[in-house]
Amino acid sequence: MIPPRATSTPLGLGCAGRCRSGTEGKSVLLTGAAGFVGTHVSMALRKREDSVVGLDNFNSYYDPSLKMARKAVLASHGVFVVEGDINDGRLLAKLFDVVPFTHVMHLTSQAGVRYAIENPRSYIHSNIAGLVALFEACKSADRSRR
Ligand SMILES: NC(=O)c1ccc[n+]([C@@H]2O[C@H](COP(=O)([O-])OP(=O)(O)OC[C@H]3O[C@@H](n4cnc5c(N)ncnc54)[C@H](O)[C@@H]3O)[C@@H](O)[C@H]2O)c1
Repeated sequence: MIPPRATSTPLGLGCAGRCRSGTEGKSVLLTGAAGFVGTHVSMALRKREDSVVGLDNFNSYYDPSLKMARKAVLASHGVFVVEGDINDGRLLAKLFDVVPFTHVMHLTSQAGVRYAIENPRSYIHSNIAGLVALFEACKSADRSRR
């Protein structure tokens, strides 16, 4: 377990500087952490002692209260989920600045097939533009800190 840190960061992360577990494991930014797959993967990574910071925008594609409940469960296992959108380049830059991530697990998505008829732009936003924004943030991250 990673012990909680007394001080906090501008993002509310209590793990700055500790989210890298050195030789014991990896430090992972997990997008879509409040989603179905993201929650399970976060827990699996924690089980093997990796440190995990989640990112999710808690959108209302399905009931956000379910995502909030997952956030609470994850918090009890040492995974803090930041509320934000992967298209927010400034937020991503800040996250990479505060936490020396070794890996990114990208599970954010606009899932579903039929919903594309109703809201096609949401797929462009999360699955295409968001992926590019994440790649750009990874590209700009300071690799010397890893
Ligand atoms: N659920 C399955 O059975 C299954 C099976 C195979 C593959 N997958 C794939 O796994 C991935 C995740 O699926 P899921 O079932 O967990 O979906 P999900 O909708 O439960 O999770 C996706 C999460 O991403 C978040 N999100 C969406 N857009 C975002 C954005 N722009 N910024 C930040 N967060 C955003 C949502 O709030 C949600 O919590 C998808 O690519 C899906 O195709 C899922």
